[in-house]
Amino acid sequence: MIAIGGDHGGVDLKEFVVQVLQSQGIEVEDVGTRGSDSVDYPDFGRLVSLKVAKGEAERGILLCTTGIGMSILANKFPGVRAALVSDPQGAQMSREHNNSNILVLGGRTTDRSTARQILDLWLRTCFAGGRHQRRLDKIAQVERELGTCIKGGIER
Ligand code: RB5
Repeated sequence: MIAIGGDHGGVDLKEFVVQVLQSQGIEVEDVGTRGSDSVDYPDFGRLVSLKVAKGEAERGILLCTTGIGMSILANKFPGVRAALVSDPQGAQMSREHNNSNILVLGGRTTDRSTARQILDLWLRTCFAGGRHQRRLDKIAQVERELGTCIKGGIER
């Protein structure tokens, strides 16, 4: 299951992304927002990030106007590797090298055609492992040293 959420700046592109995912038979949990009323992106970003951090969602997708606020928020969560991506190469590299588990898109900086290409690559590209796993292990070590943890003790 992929959890998805966004604020008013990301809502249009979110609706498009949900349609693309569902047309591919992918199960989606949309935590909102719905409609164009102004909301606070952390309220929606935290729901998706927590699901990914706890393993309740395999991956997540977050959207705000630029993607910047959502990526700042999501990367506070242990085990979350959120990648703000604006082009297909970034989508591929974020999976191959960083094993990104949350894709962040800028709702007003990314057109639909680019978003579709990003999504296709992000969904089908596998993590390369090897030296990249060693680097991710070092990020996980930083989380341990900082004492970041999820209540309930889930460490991933
Ligand atoms: C909301 O106006 C805007 O700040 C938000 O969508 C996002 O881009 C924050 O980084």
